[in-house]
This record gives sequence, C-alpha cells and structure tokens, in this order.
Amino acid sequence: MHWTKRIAACALPLCLGVATLAIGQAASASTDKASLRDWWKNAVIMEIYPRSFQDSNGDGIGDLNGITQRLDYLKSLGVDAIWLTPIYPSPQVDFGYDISDYQGIAPEYGTMADFDKLMAEANKRHIRVIMDMVMNHSSDKHKWFLESRASKKNPYRNWYVWKDGKGQTATDKGDVPNNWRSDFGGTAWEWDATTRQYWYHKFYTEQPDFNWNNPKVHQAFKDIIAFWLKKGVAGFRFDAITTLFEDPQWRDDDPVLDKSGQPVKGPDGLVELNDTRTNNLPEVHDVMQEMRASADKGFKPSSYPGTRVFIGETYLPNIAELAKQYGTAENPEFHLPMDTQILGINKMDAVAFRAKLNDVETGIGNNVPLLVFDNHDNPRIDARYGDGVHNEDIERVLATVLLASKGTALFYFGDELGMKTTPPERKEDVKDPVGRRMWPFYKGRDGERTPMQWDDSANAGFTTGTPWLPVPPTYTTVNAKAEEGKPDSLLTWYQKLIELKKTHAAFAEGNNLMLDQDNANVLSWLRQTHDGKQVLVSCNFTADAQTVNLSGGGVKRATAKTLLKSPGGSDPASLNSVQLPPFGVWIGEVE
Ligand code: GLC
Repeated sequence: MHWTKRIAACALPLCLGVATLAIGQAASASTDKASLRDWWKNAVIMEIYPRSFQDSNGDGIGDLNGITQRLDYLKSLGVDAIWLTPIYPSPQVDFGYDISDYQGIAPEYGTMADFDKLMAEANKRHIRVIMDMVMNHSSDKHKWFLESRASKKNPYRNWYVWKDGKGQTATDKGDVPNNWRSDFGGTAWEWDATTRQYWYHKFYTEQPDFNWNNPKVHQAFKDIIAFWLKKGVAGFRFDAITTLFEDPQWRDDDPVLDKSGQPVKGPDGLVELNDTRTNNLPEVHDVMQEMRASADKGFKPSSYPGTRVFIGETYLPNIAELAKQYGTAENPEFHLPMDTQILGINKMDAVAFRAKLNDVETGIGNNVPLLVFDNHDNPRIDARYGDGVHNEDIERVLATVLLASKGTALFYFGDELGMKTTPPERKEDVKDPVGRRMWPFYKGRDGERTPMQWDDSANAGFTTGTPWLPVPPTYTTVNAKAEEGKPDSLLTWYQKLIELKKTHAAFAEGNNLMLDQDNANVLSWLRQTHDGKQVLVSCNFTADAQTVNLSGGGVKRATAKTLLKSPGGSDPASLNSVQLPPFGVWIGEVE
C-alpha cells in the first residue's frame, strides 16, 4: 500500500553526539575496516528536505550551501548520514520527484561545485550523504520522454509505458486502457494526441512511468548510480521502488471491499482499488538484485571507504513482504528497506507497537531493521500520535522507540525539535498539487514540509527572503537555538538517545526482547548483548501515571541504574516498581 492511502486515513483531520566513523580516513586496524563496512548497521540517518532546510541566498528556497552551513548542527546531534530528497534539475511539479536530468543539480539548489563542497565538508565531519534515486518515473520534460512522445518509431518510445485506448479507432481515442489509478487521484493514463496512445503514470501526469521491461532502462540507471557513487555518495534511497512493474496482461485492479463485501469509496467519491496489478510485482526483486550487484562490484573509490547502502521506500502490507526486500546472501537487494509497519499505526497503542516490534525481531532473520516513523509525505508525529496536551512527551516516547530499538534509525529533519505539522489554511496557498486536487478532505503534504526552525529571528533563521512555505508560528519557542543545551528539551533527548545508541554496547548490538507483554499501557523492552549486558527501556503510552514491574523475563537483577528519564520521572529503587509519569520514559542499566 502506498502512503497516499494511509495519509488519507489519518491526516484529516551540546555536542553529545559521538561520530564513530572516520569516513575520510584510511582504515588502519581490522576493526576500523569492519566498522567502515558496517557503518550503516546501527546508524542514525536524518532525512533532509533540501527545499526547507536552510536558504543561503535569500530566494526563500533551501539550498545545498545552506545544508553545508548547518553541518555542525548535524554533527552535534550525532547524525551518521543525511538522505537528501531529490536535488536534480526538475520542473518541481512534485518538488523534485519529477526529474529532468539525473546527473545534474537543480539551479535553485546550487551547482555541482556546491554539491562537491557539501560532500567534502560532510566527509570532514564524518557525515555521509545519501541521494534519492527515482527509477519508477521521470519528468515529462526529461529528454528521454520528449523523445519517447515524439513518434512511435523513436528509439526512446519503449523506454516508457504506452498503450492504445480501449476501443480506439483511427478517429476516436477510445477509453483509457484499464481502470488503473494514479496515487494522486484519477486515472493513471494520459492521452498523447500526437502519437495517439496513452502513457501510464502511477503518480502525477507529469511523471511518466519507465518501462522496466526494456533492458536499456536498466543500463541507464546502472550508469546513473555509478555516476553518483563515483562522486562519493554513501548510497541511495530508492523512491516508489515497489511500483516499477505493471501487470503484463493489463488486467483491471479489483475494488477494495468492506467487511460486508461492499466496495469502499475514497475521498474523490470513486471506488477504491487494490493496486495489486501495479505494485509489488515480483520482477522488482530482479531489478534490485541487478542494481545491487552492479553497485557492490563496480565502485570502490578509496577516497570514500565503507558500504554504499541501498535504502528502499517500501510501504508493504506485512513483515513477510518486507523480509523479501533484503534479498538473500547470494542475491542481496536492499541493505535497509524501510520498515513502515509502525509508521502506519497512527495512534499511541502499546499493544500494536509491541506486535510490530516483535515482528521485526523475529521476521527478518539477521537483517538490520530500518524503523521510520515519519517523512515528507506524512503528517509529523504530533498530528498522528499527539493528544494536543502531551505532544512533546509523546514525541519523546516515539523518539525512544525509534532510537532505543535495534537497528538503524531514520528520522525527518525537525522531529528532533518537535516541529509541528502546519497545513495550509486556504486552498490558494497549497503548493503540493495533490492538496489542491483533494481539498479540503486532504490538504496535501505542505504541512510537514515547512521550513526548519533554527531560531526565533525572522523566518526562524531559515531565509532572509520570503520562505516558499510559511514558517509555522511555533518557531518562537520550538527552535534549535532555544533547545540547544537545555536539559529538558526534545533536542537534548535526541542527542542523549543517539549518544547512548553509539556508546552503550547493549544499544549498539543488543537484541530487543519485549517485557511485560500483557501490559496494554506501557511498552517495555530489554536490550541484551550476547555477553549479557542489559539495558531496560520503558515507555508509558497513556496520559495517566503508570507503575510497572520489570523484574523477571530474563532481567538479571532487581535493580538498575537510570541512564535517561523523562522530566518529572524518578529513579526506581527496585525493578518491581518502576514509576512513569504520563507518556514518561525510563531507561536503566541492569546492575
Ligand atoms: C515517493 C516520494 C513522494 C513522491 C512520490 C512520487 O512516495 O516520497 O514524495 O511524491 O514518490 O515520486
């Protein structure tokens, strides 16, 4: 299931960090080599939406030099890598996800020299840079598509998905080839009057889908991936990767049925469809194996040692489907397919969280989980989990689940400050086209894309010009400057959690064992190394104070030393009685 379906269901509505890796330095000892190779296994990755992070030239749009200026902030937070959403030239219909040149930099974001400078400065600070790789579609302004639509005989014609209409004649275009829908609403087919065929687009009309049955498309993307790897990037986040292929028989998608077997209608009044004929087809695995083999074998520039990671945008229905995305030892696919199972819970439900975390612990073998709770496509944590009273405490709980669980953690810029979702109030202010189309039922994704809140100066320090999206009024108190060095701030909480993740063996390498499993109010778990080091984590998922008993269940002693606790929390005298304030967190080391 893709994110648009989920959001439609929910959206209406100090320098403590320790950078462990010497990216730019030659690995001397074998342990260094191992840590370089495995840098991604317990890593912390921040997603940066470059348009909204930091503007350096006053045009109101964030840019690469802006990111470079803020690298010290990322280092003090303890971030290992940044994933940049697309920075390539683009008509910006889908804010970069409609790419017109895969090997350039969008002028509004800077130049290739600015990119190289960002890489060099990030490298100095041991921060890796991960690019977005959009292989499902390009912009309709990409030269390949302009060629493709020029004539049916053009060599690029079969780089994209073209089809005759149903009942088409010499004079009548007929009906769309089948009932497939765009994720942004309406039919997925657009008529081309010049060549008299329809093109297929899973997303906006201006984002024609590539034809992945064409080997030339495979080669083109292997070359693009090689281009960026040679520039030293640490990997890619593969966009909309599950939607590369379509049913070869072009069969209609089936309607979604409710419990009584009746078709379910969506916000646009149309019957909802299961997109089984255009999503998660098995051929995607072959492509990813091919891309991974090409990247693993081909490029090992010594200036940038360490594994190049493949991250997948993998919205999947269950853990079994997620497990497949890792591939096998012989034919690996993603290092880190995103685990969006928890992202989809959308309420503070300890039982549901526990079930998903148990799934991850048992369902993906020895692979590394990549938990992710929000991003540029989904309302921020406050809008999906907050109760309006304890939002900051709830954000602290979510940060703890993310950063104190096993695996690699990915969070969205501004989460560490508690930035709030701020959707536009008027249709005419909406920038994301899907928000205009579905207004007012769904207001699009502007609300989670507002500028980074750096300080309490004009425009939150994001720009000296007019910001492309308004800065939310919360910036006067929710900002990096106000939170830095403040013991009880969310930013400090993130810094401390990241430091623990990097420095404490139980967090760095321990497994996750759920405790007190019948408790519907409190989520508690044990992180334990193979040589028995133990840390306990307990998160209250309710607005009432709770007391839990964490003894037993493999916990070796009756007492533990507090490592971290929420404001207002206490140090338990015994693990029989750990007291948690409303939405409180306690983390302790078993002594
Ligand atoms: C992914 C991106 C989203 C984009 C879509 C189409 O889901 O995260 O922002 O609109 O793909 O490229």
